[in-house]
Amino acid sequence: MSRPFGPGERALFFDNKGRRYLVTLTEGGEFHTHAGPVLHDDVLGQDEGCTVRSTRGARYIAVRPTLSEMVLKMPRGAQVIYPKDLAMILFWADVYPGCRVLEAGTGSGALTLALLRAVGPEGRVITYEQREEFARRALANIHMRAGEVGNLMVRLRPVEEGLGEEEPVDRVVLDLPEPWKLTAAVARVLRPGGILLMYVPTIIQSHQITEALQRERAWALVETFETLVRPWNIDGTSVRPFHRMVAHTGFITVARRVVPEEGVAMPRLPLPERDE
Ligand SMILES: C[S@@+](CC[C@H](N)C(=O)[O-])C[C@H]1O[C@@H](n2cnc3c(N)ncnc32)[C@H](O)[C@@H]1O
Repeated sequence: MSRPFGPGERALFFDNKGRRYLVTLTEGGEFHTHAGPVLHDDVLGQDEGCTVRSTRGARYIAVRPTLSEMVLKMPRGAQVIYPKDLAMILFWADVYPGCRVLEAGTGSGALTLALLRAVGPEGRVITYEQREEFARRALANIHMRAGEVGNLMVRLRPVEEGLGEEEPVDRVVLDLPEPWKLTAAVARVLRPGGILLMYVPTIIQSHQITEALQRERAWALVETFETLVRPWNIDGTSVRPFHRMVAHTGFITVARRVVPEEGVAMPRLPLPERDE
């Protein structure tokens, strides 16, 4: 729904070069630029997408930040997952409205925010974080973006200590250093047909994850990939990739929880079919 900007809201100001600034609007507040301040009062009461000028004429457009923009601008404790990977995680883990998701670790709350939006008010997110300062930072970020959320449970303890006490969930998403140590315990809390997704920065870790999944009979359809997004400059006859890109962030491994067949030796895991 379209509504004008109000006090206390976050606005994203961007200039002619696309540089973005996250600002909390207050009555009488000022956003300082190289060309003098932009007065918050010039934005308050205006529609999203309005143009405002600093006192010395620099031009800014004000919009509400998307979740992706918010994640890149919000204060961090731990390193956040980049939007290109958040997007893939939601689809490859097939997180749907009403879904019950278990996450670890919470870190700065970027993935938690994305999960909360995907599961919607009928779903629930249980997130584990072992460091209190990170959990506090994540909760502050979540409240800043989403307000009070009634379907988020934050567990301040190592996930391995809590997994055995959890009710069944539909999805498990892990962004922590040694997820291969958790696969057997995750298999007990993840419902049959559920999806486990793990995000790690090195391919050595993905290898360890895959070997762990291959040893256990509760897993199938294991795949690992990374996501490269190559932005392009399109400006008149200059049509080429930008010189810089976010070249590496992390690897994603996904597996499906299956019911092991009674009395059958450990199967070689089938690889997912590929559409060429
Ligand atoms: C890379 S950060 C997660 C970032 C998060 N996905 C985000 O997008 O903001 C990893 C987090 O896992 C936490 N962690 C590491 N091992 C853990 C464990 N066994 N149980 C719970 N949290 C753990 C760390 O304290 C850290 O905050």
